[in-house]
Amino acid sequence: MSAYVLVLYYSRHGATRELARRIARGVEAGGMAVRLRSVPALSAEADASAEGKDLHCSLDDLAGCAGLALGSPTRFGTMAAPLKAFLESSSSLWLQGALIDKPAVVFTSSQSAHGGQEATLLSMMLPLLHHGMLILGLPYDQPALLHSHDGGGPYGAGHIGDRPRLSADEARLAHALGLRLARWAQVRPS
Ligand SMILES: Cc1cc2nc3c(=O)[nH]c(=O)nc-3n(C[C@H](O)[C@H](O)[C@H](O)COP(=O)(O)O)c2cc1C
Repeated sequence: MSAYVLVLYYSRHGATRELARRIARGVEAGGMAVRLRSVPALSAEADASAEGKDLHCSLDDLAGCAGLALGSPTRFGTMAAPLKAFLESSSSLWLQGALIDKPAVVFTSSQSAHGGQEATLLSMMLPLLHHGMLILGLPYDQPALLHSHDGGGPYGAGHIGDRPRLSADEARLAHALGLRLARWAQVRPS
């Protein structure tokens, strides 16, 4: 089985899915294969992943990845419950140490600029740290980080707004994050 980066997300209205796709293109541009996977909704709410036909993630998809990009809508300042539920099903991988020393990045979409996007990104890192993953952010060699008023920052990629369409800066930063993840996913610690 060849090495791949897992881009794992939940999305109800499609914005987080757009970020996932941009990050996936960045990963491919960095020379790595991608598995784009979603998680199912917990309730009767429609989820965009069903419409987008991305497969649901299995624990094997997670265990076997060389790197992980994890994405969620911002919900009350933290990740959405369907993604949290999936992570809580991963304790067997935690016991095995299956994700130790693998790089990870996070991304989110929120309605408003000050609606908790950074809190969401930071809180999404916590379970990944418990898994022993190496968290990567976005460094300031990305000019958009200095001038953009859109989503995305040093903690990860992001989108702000009512509609799923990414701004040019959001798309650029998401791509850069995927590229950076791909580079580090190809480094294996000795
Ligand atoms: C239950 C719930 C809670 C939300 N909480 C927040 C929030 O705290 N801050 C915010 O800016 N947007 C919030 N939103 C809006 C979503 O983050 C926003 O619409 C996001 O872009 C949806 O992503 P998606 O298109 O991938 O589903 C919330 C939406 C829902 C359904």
